[in-house]
Amino acid sequence: MSKLESRSQDATARPHRVLSGIQPSGTLHLGNYFGAIQQHIRLQDEFPGDCFYFIADYHALTTVKDAQALQEYVRQIAVAYLSLGLDPDKALLFRQSHVPEVTELTWLLATVTGMGLLERGHSYKDKISQGIKPSVGLFTYPVLMASDILIYHSTLVPVGKDQVQHVEMTQDMATYFNEAYGQGSVLLNRPEYRLSKTPYVPGLDGRKMSKSYGNIIPLFESGKKLKKLVGRIVTDSTPLGQPLDPNHCNVFALLTLFCEAAELDEIRTWYLAGRRDGQDFGYGHAKQLLAAKIEAHFAQARAKRDDLLAHPELVDHVLAQSASRARAVAQKTLDACRQACGLG
Ligand code: ADP
Ligand code: TRP
Repeated sequence: MSKLESRSQDATARPHRVLSGIQPSGTLHLGNYFGAIQQHIRLQDEFPGDCFYFIADYHALTTVKDAQALQEYVRQIAVAYLSLGLDPDKALLFRQSHVPEVTELTWLLATVTGMGLLERGHSYKDKISQGIKPSVGLFTYPVLMASDILIYHSTLVPVGKDQVQHVEMTQDMATYFNEAYGQGSVLLNRPEYRLSKTPYVPGLDGRKMSKSYGNIIPLFESGKKLKKLVGRIVTDSTPLGQPLDPNHCNVFALLTLFCEAAELDEIRTWYLAGRRDGQDFGYGHAKQLLAAKIEAHFAQARAKRDDLLAHPELVDHVLAQSASRARAVAQKTLDACRQACGLG
Protein backbone atom coordinates (compact mmCIF):
# COMPACT_ATOMS: atom_id res chain seq x y z
CA MET A 1 0.00 0.00 0.00
CA SER A 2 1.37 3.43 -0.91
CA LYS A 3 1.81 6.13 1.74
CA LEU A 4 -0.98 8.15 0.20
CA GLU A 5 -3.36 5.21 0.29
CA SER A 6 -2.62 4.62 3.95
CA ARG A 7 -3.14 8.32 4.70
CA SER A 8 -6.43 8.25 2.87
CA GLN A 9 -7.53 5.29 4.96
CA ASP A 10 -6.49 7.13 8.12
CA ALA A 11 -8.63 10.10 7.19
CA THR A 12 -11.74 7.95 6.99
CA ALA A 13 -10.75 5.35 9.58
CA ARG A 14 -13.61 6.14 12.02
CA PRO A 15 -17.13 6.27 10.61
CA HIS A 16 -17.97 8.91 13.21
CA ARG A 17 -15.99 11.34 15.25
CA VAL A 18 -17.85 13.98 17.17
CA LEU A 19 -15.83 17.04 18.13
CA SER A 20 -16.57 20.34 19.75
CA GLY A 21 -14.83 23.01 21.75
CA ILE A 22 -15.90 25.67 24.19
CA GLN A 23 -13.89 28.78 25.00
CA PRO A 24 -12.85 29.42 28.60
CA SER A 25 -13.66 33.09 28.36
CA GLY A 26 -16.17 33.72 31.14
CA THR A 27 -18.66 32.28 33.59
CA LEU A 28 -20.73 29.42 32.12
CA HIS A 29 -24.43 30.17 31.86
CA LEU A 30 -27.74 28.51 31.01
CA GLY A 31 -27.28 29.43 27.33
CA ASN A 32 -23.98 27.54 27.21
CA TYR A 33 -25.60 24.53 28.84
CA PHE A 34 -28.75 24.25 26.73
CA GLY A 35 -27.08 25.52 23.56
CA ALA A 36 -23.94 23.37 23.72
CA ILE A 37 -22.92 21.31 26.76
CA GLN A 38 -26.17 19.33 27.11
CA GLN A 39 -25.96 18.17 23.51
CA HIS A 40 -22.28 17.27 23.85
CA ILE A 41 -23.00 15.08 26.84
CA ARG A 42 -25.98 13.39 25.16
CA LEU A 43 -23.88 12.55 22.12
CA GLN A 44 -21.54 10.42 24.23
CA ASP A 45 -24.30 7.80 24.38
CA GLU A 46 -24.99 7.97 20.66
CA PHE A 47 -21.28 7.73 19.78
CA PRO A 48 -19.49 6.20 22.80
CA GLY A 49 -15.72 6.33 22.37
CA ASP A 50 -15.95 8.74 19.44
CA CYS A 51 -16.57 12.07 21.17
CA PHE A 52 -13.75 14.58 21.55
CA TYR A 53 -14.47 17.72 23.57
CA PHE A 54 -11.89 20.33 24.37
CA ILE A 55 -11.48 23.59 26.22
CA ALA A 56 -10.39 26.11 23.60
CA ASP A 57 -7.77 27.95 25.62
CA TYR A 58 -5.68 29.03 22.59
CA HIS A 59 -8.81 30.61 21.16
CA ALA A 60 -9.64 32.31 24.46
CA LEU A 61 -6.32 34.19 24.34
CA THR A 62 -7.90 36.39 21.68
CA THR A 63 -10.04 37.95 24.41
CA VAL A 64 -8.78 36.88 27.87
CA LYS A 65 -5.54 38.64 28.83
CA ASP A 66 -5.41 37.60 32.49
CA ALA A 67 -3.49 34.34 33.03
CA GLN A 68 -5.09 33.59 36.38
CA ALA A 69 -8.59 34.20 35.06
CA LEU A 70 -7.90 31.91 32.11
CA GLN A 71 -6.82 29.07 34.42
CA GLU A 72 -9.92 29.62 36.51
CA TYR A 73 -12.27 29.51 33.48
CA VAL A 74 -10.56 26.35 32.21
CA ARG A 75 -11.11 24.63 35.56
CA GLN A 76 -14.69 25.83 35.67
CA ILE A 77 -15.47 24.26 32.30
CA ALA A 78 -13.73 20.97 33.08
CA VAL A 79 -15.54 20.67 36.40
CA ALA A 80 -18.86 21.63 34.78
CA TYR A 81 -18.65 18.95 32.08
CA LEU A 82 -17.72 16.26 34.57
CA SER A 83 -20.39 17.23 37.09
CA LEU A 84 -23.05 17.46 34.39
CA GLY A 85 -22.41 13.88 33.31
CA LEU A 86 -19.50 13.69 30.88
CA ASP A 87 -18.19 10.14 31.21
CA PRO A 88 -14.43 9.96 30.50
CA ASP A 89 -14.89 6.34 29.38
CA LYS A 90 -17.14 7.50 26.56
CA ALA A 91 -15.83 10.96 25.72
CA LEU A 92 -12.49 12.76 25.87
CA LEU A 93 -12.21 16.11 27.62
CA PHE A 94 -8.93 17.96 27.19
CA ARG A 95 -7.32 21.35 26.91
CA GLN A 96 -6.71 22.54 23.36
CA SER A 97 -3.20 23.71 24.28
CA HIS A 98 -2.26 20.22 25.48
CA VAL A 99 -2.26 19.22 21.82
CA PRO A 100 0.16 21.81 20.41
CA GLU A 101 0.12 20.01 17.03
CA VAL A 102 -3.03 22.01 16.21
CA THR A 103 -0.98 25.18 15.94
CA GLU A 104 1.32 23.63 13.34
CA LEU A 105 -1.59 22.35 11.26
CA THR A 106 -3.07 25.85 11.57
CA TRP A 107 -0.04 27.18 9.71
CA LEU A 108 -0.28 24.55 6.99
CA LEU A 109 -3.96 25.39 6.50
CA ALA A 110 -3.24 29.14 6.53
CA THR A 111 -0.99 28.72 3.51
CA VAL A 112 -3.84 27.31 1.39
CA THR A 113 -6.55 29.67 2.67
CA GLY A 114 -7.39 32.84 0.78
CA MET A 115 -7.73 36.16 2.62
CA GLY A 116 -11.19 36.54 1.07
CA LEU A 117 -12.57 33.56 2.98
CA LEU A 118 -11.56 35.05 6.33
CA GLU A 119 -12.61 38.56 5.33
CA ARG A 120 -16.17 37.27 4.93
CA GLY A 121 -16.20 35.97 8.56
CA HIS A 122 -19.06 37.60 10.47
CA SER A 123 -17.87 36.46 13.90
CA TYR A 124 -14.70 38.57 13.43
CA LYS A 125 -16.78 41.61 12.48
CA ASP A 126 -19.17 41.05 15.42
CA LYS A 127 -16.29 40.82 17.87
CA ILE A 128 -14.64 43.99 16.60
CA SER A 129 -17.96 45.81 16.88
CA GLN A 130 -18.07 44.70 20.54
CA GLY A 131 -14.75 46.48 21.06
CA ILE A 132 -12.43 43.45 20.98
CA LYS A 133 -8.99 44.34 19.59
CA PRO A 134 -8.69 43.25 15.95
CA SER A 135 -5.51 41.20 16.39
CA VAL A 136 -4.06 38.86 13.76
CA GLY A 137 -5.08 36.02 16.10
CA LEU A 138 -8.69 37.14 16.09
CA PHE A 139 -8.67 37.41 12.29
CA THR A 140 -7.18 33.95 11.80
CA TYR A 141 -9.36 32.40 14.54
CA PRO A 142 -11.30 30.31 11.97
CA VAL A 143 -8.09 28.68 10.72
CA LEU A 144 -7.22 27.49 14.23
CA MET A 145 -10.79 26.24 14.59
CA ALA A 146 -10.51 24.38 11.28
CA SER A 147 -7.31 22.79 12.50
CA ASP A 148 -9.04 21.69 15.73
CA ILE A 149 -11.69 19.97 13.68
CA LEU A 150 -9.58 18.50 10.89
CA ILE A 151 -6.70 17.20 12.99
CA TYR A 152 -9.01 14.60 14.60
CA HIS A 153 -10.74 13.66 11.31
CA SER A 154 -13.98 14.87 12.85
CA THR A 155 -17.16 13.98 11.01
CA LEU A 156 -19.74 15.75 13.17
CA VAL A 157 -19.35 19.10 14.92
CA PRO A 158 -22.17 20.07 17.31
CA VAL A 159 -22.26 23.86 17.55
CA GLY A 160 -24.50 26.87 18.05
CA LYS A 161 -25.79 28.91 15.08
CA ASP A 162 -23.01 31.46 15.54
CA GLN A 163 -20.38 28.82 14.71
CA VAL A 164 -21.92 27.39 11.55
CA GLN A 165 -19.97 29.70 9.27
CA HIS A 166 -16.74 28.53 10.91
CA VAL A 167 -17.58 24.90 10.17
CA GLU A 168 -18.38 25.83 6.57
CA MET A 169 -14.99 27.56 6.31
CA THR A 170 -13.45 24.38 7.71
CA GLN A 171 -15.07 22.37 4.90
CA ASP A 172 -13.53 24.77 2.39
CA MET A 173 -10.10 24.57 4.02
CA ALA A 174 -10.19 20.74 3.95
CA THR A 175 -10.98 20.88 0.24
CA TYR A 176 -8.22 23.41 -0.48
CA PHE A 177 -5.69 21.28 1.39
CA ASN A 178 -6.75 18.02 -0.26
CA GLU A 179 -6.66 19.66 -3.67
CA ALA A 180 -3.23 21.13 -3.04
CA TYR A 181 -1.57 18.04 -1.58
CA GLY A 182 -3.86 14.99 -1.63
CA GLN A 183 -3.05 13.82 -5.19
CA GLY A 184 -6.59 12.49 -5.43
CA SER A 185 -6.75 11.19 -1.83
CA VAL A 186 -8.54 12.55 1.19
CA LEU A 187 -5.95 13.85 3.65
CA LEU A 188 -8.50 15.76 5.71
CA ASN A 189 -12.21 14.90 6.11
CA ARG A 190 -14.91 17.45 5.35
CA PRO A 191 -16.97 17.66 8.57
CA GLU A 192 -20.69 18.38 8.99
CA TYR A 193 -22.20 20.53 11.73
CA ARG A 194 -25.17 19.74 13.95
CA LEU A 195 -27.24 22.46 15.62
CA SER A 196 -28.48 22.04 19.16
CA LYS A 197 -32.25 21.69 19.67
CA THR A 198 -32.22 24.87 21.76
CA PRO A 199 -30.01 27.25 19.81
CA TYR A 200 -31.52 30.33 21.47
CA VAL A 201 -31.77 30.79 25.23
CA PRO A 202 -32.96 34.29 26.19
CA GLY A 203 -31.14 36.25 28.87
CA LEU A 204 -32.51 38.42 31.69
CA ASP A 205 -33.28 41.25 29.23
CA GLY A 206 -34.78 39.02 26.51
CA ARG A 207 -31.78 39.31 24.20
CA LYS A 208 -29.73 36.15 23.62
CA MET A 209 -28.14 35.13 26.92
CA SER A 210 -24.47 36.04 26.57
CA LYS A 211 -21.61 37.07 28.80
CA SER A 212 -21.06 40.01 26.43
CA TYR A 213 -24.52 41.40 27.28
CA GLY A 214 -24.25 40.99 31.06
CA ASN A 215 -27.65 39.24 31.07
CA ILE A 216 -26.68 35.74 32.20
CA ILE A 217 -27.93 33.25 34.76
CA PRO A 218 -24.77 31.36 35.79
CA LEU A 219 -25.07 27.60 35.44
CA PHE A 220 -24.60 26.69 39.09
CA GLU A 221 -26.26 29.68 40.76
CA SER A 222 -28.57 28.77 43.65
CA GLY A 223 -30.44 30.08 46.71
CA LYS A 224 -31.01 33.78 47.24
CA LYS A 225 -28.66 34.87 44.46
CA LEU A 226 -30.56 32.75 41.96
CA LYS A 227 -33.94 34.10 43.12
CA LYS A 228 -32.63 37.63 42.86
CA LEU A 229 -31.38 37.09 39.31
CA VAL A 230 -34.61 35.41 38.20
CA GLY A 231 -36.47 38.33 39.75
CA ARG A 232 -34.63 40.63 37.32
CA ILE A 233 -35.97 38.88 34.18
CA VAL A 234 -37.75 41.51 32.14
CA THR A 235 -41.53 41.07 31.76
CA ASP A 236 -44.32 43.40 30.64
CA SER A 237 -46.44 45.31 33.15
CA THR A 238 -49.65 43.23 33.06
CA PRO A 239 -51.21 43.59 36.54
CA LEU A 240 -51.58 40.57 38.82
CA GLY A 241 -54.71 38.52 38.06
CA GLN A 242 -54.90 39.54 34.39
CA PRO A 243 -54.24 36.99 31.60
CA LEU A 244 -50.58 36.75 30.56
CA ASP A 245 -49.20 35.90 27.12
CA PRO A 246 -46.91 32.84 27.39
CA ASN A 247 -45.72 33.30 23.81
CA HIS A 248 -44.09 36.63 24.57
CA CYS A 249 -42.65 35.99 28.00
CA ASN A 250 -38.96 35.49 28.82
CA VAL A 251 -39.83 33.59 32.00
CA PHE A 252 -42.03 31.16 30.09
CA ALA A 253 -39.36 30.73 27.42
CA LEU A 254 -36.91 29.69 30.14
CA LEU A 255 -39.49 27.41 31.77
CA THR A 256 -39.77 25.47 28.50
CA LEU A 257 -36.17 24.33 29.02
CA PHE A 258 -36.97 22.71 32.34
CA CYS A 259 -40.52 21.34 32.03
CA GLU A 260 -42.03 18.32 30.30
CA ALA A 261 -44.80 19.00 27.76
CA ALA A 262 -47.71 18.15 30.11
CA GLU A 263 -46.41 20.40 32.88
CA LEU A 264 -45.82 23.19 30.43
CA ASP A 265 -49.38 22.89 29.13
CA GLU A 266 -50.63 23.27 32.68
CA ILE A 267 -48.49 26.37 33.28
CA ARG A 268 -49.75 27.78 29.98
CA THR A 269 -53.34 27.52 31.26
CA TRP A 270 -52.35 29.49 34.41
CA TYR A 271 -50.80 32.17 32.20
CA LEU A 272 -53.83 32.43 29.94
CA ALA A 273 -56.23 32.65 32.92
CA GLY A 274 -54.01 34.78 35.16
CA ARG A 275 -55.22 32.33 37.84
CA ARG A 276 -53.94 29.16 39.44
CA ASP A 277 -56.09 26.95 41.71
CA GLY A 278 -58.50 29.80 42.40
CA GLN A 279 -55.70 32.29 43.24
CA ASP A 280 -54.23 35.10 41.14
CA PHE A 281 -51.19 34.04 39.10
CA GLY A 282 -48.68 36.65 37.93
CA TYR A 283 -45.10 37.01 36.78
CA GLY A 284 -43.85 36.84 40.37
CA HIS A 285 -45.32 33.35 40.72
CA ALA A 286 -43.90 32.25 37.38
CA LYS A 287 -40.48 33.47 38.49
CA GLN A 288 -40.68 31.55 41.76
CA LEU A 289 -41.52 28.44 39.77
CA LEU A 290 -38.59 29.03 37.41
CA ALA A 291 -36.08 29.58 40.24
CA ALA A 292 -37.22 26.32 41.87
CA LYS A 293 -36.92 24.45 38.57
CA ILE A 294 -33.38 25.71 37.92
CA GLU A 295 -32.32 24.89 41.46
CA ALA A 296 -33.73 21.34 41.28
CA HIS A 297 -32.47 20.64 37.74
CA PHE A 298 -28.85 21.25 38.68
CA ALA A 299 -28.95 20.03 42.31
CA GLN A 300 -27.18 16.74 41.61
CA ALA A 301 -24.59 18.38 39.36
CA ARG A 302 -23.95 21.07 41.99
CA ALA A 303 -23.19 18.41 44.61
CA LYS A 304 -20.85 16.57 42.23
CA ARG A 305 -19.22 19.89 41.39
CA ASP A 306 -18.50 20.60 45.05
CA ASP A 307 -16.86 17.18 45.24
CA LEU A 308 -14.69 17.79 42.19
CA LEU A 309 -13.68 21.24 43.36
CA ALA A 310 -12.38 19.58 46.52
CA HIS A 311 -10.41 17.04 44.43
CA PRO A 312 -8.77 18.95 41.59
CA GLU A 313 -6.40 16.03 40.98
CA LEU A 314 -9.32 13.97 39.62
CA VAL A 315 -10.08 16.66 37.08
CA ASP A 316 -6.43 17.04 36.10
CA HIS A 317 -6.20 13.28 35.61
CA VAL A 318 -9.09 13.26 33.13
CA LEU A 319 -7.63 16.23 31.25
CA ALA A 320 -4.19 14.61 31.04
CA GLN A 321 -5.43 11.17 29.97
CA SER A 322 -7.75 12.62 27.36
CA ALA A 323 -5.03 14.90 26.02
CA SER A 324 -2.63 12.04 25.54
CA ARG A 325 -5.22 10.03 23.57
CA ALA A 326 -6.22 13.03 21.48
CA ARG A 327 -2.59 13.92 20.89
CA ALA A 328 -1.82 10.49 19.45
CA VAL A 329 -4.52 11.03 16.80
CA ALA A 330 -3.35 14.59 16.13
CA GLN A 331 0.29 13.58 15.71
CA LYS A 332 -0.64 10.99 13.10
CA THR A 333 -2.65 13.48 11.09
CA LEU A 334 0.01 16.14 11.32
CA ASP A 335 2.74 13.70 10.24
CA ALA A 336 0.72 12.74 7.17
CA CYS A 337 0.09 16.40 6.32
CA ARG A 338 3.74 17.35 6.81
CA GLN A 339 4.82 14.55 4.50
CA ALA A 340 2.25 15.54 1.89
CA CYS A 341 3.56 19.14 1.91
CA GLY A 342 7.17 18.08 1.60
CA LEU A 343 8.13 18.79 5.21
CA GLY A 344 8.54 15.13 6.20
P1 ADP B 1 -21.24 33.86 25.09
O1 ADP B 1 -22.27 34.37 24.09
O2 ADP B 1 -21.71 33.98 26.49
O3 ADP B 1 -19.89 34.51 24.85
P2 ADP B 1 -20.02 31.57 23.86
O4 ADP B 1 -19.96 32.30 22.56
O5 ADP B 1 -18.74 31.34 24.60
O6 ADP B 1 -21.07 32.31 24.80
O7 ADP B 1 -20.78 30.20 23.62
C1 ADP B 1 -20.31 28.91 23.89
C2 ADP B 1 -21.32 27.93 23.35
O8 ADP B 1 -22.61 28.13 23.96
C3 ADP B 1 -21.57 28.10 21.83
O9 ADP B 1 -21.73 26.81 21.24
C4 ADP B 1 -22.84 28.90 21.74
O10 ADP B 1 -23.54 28.65 20.55
C5 ADP B 1 -23.61 28.42 22.97
N1 ADP B 1 -24.46 29.50 23.48
C6 ADP B 1 -24.03 30.63 24.09
N2 ADP B 1 -25.08 31.42 24.44
C7 ADP B 1 -26.19 30.77 24.03
C8 ADP B 1 -27.60 31.09 24.11
N3 ADP B 1 -28.03 32.18 24.69
N4 ADP B 1 -28.47 30.20 23.60
C9 ADP B 1 -28.03 29.05 23.03
N5 ADP B 1 -26.72 28.70 22.93
C10 ADP B 1 -25.81 29.55 23.41
N1 TRP C 1 -15.28 28.94 18.33
C1 TRP C 1 -16.04 28.14 19.24
C2 TRP C 1 -16.92 29.07 20.15
O1 TRP C 1 -16.57 30.20 20.34
C3 TRP C 1 -15.15 27.29 20.12
C4 TRP C 1 -14.35 26.34 19.27
C5 TRP C 1 -13.00 26.39 19.02
C6 TRP C 1 -14.86 25.22 18.56
N2 TRP C 1 -12.63 25.36 18.22
C7 TRP C 1 -13.74 24.63 17.91
C8 TRP C 1 -16.14 24.67 18.43
C9 TRP C 1 -13.90 23.49 17.11
C10 TRP C 1 -16.28 23.54 17.61
C11 TRP C 1 -15.17 22.96 16.97
O2 TRP C 1 -17.93 28.62 20.66
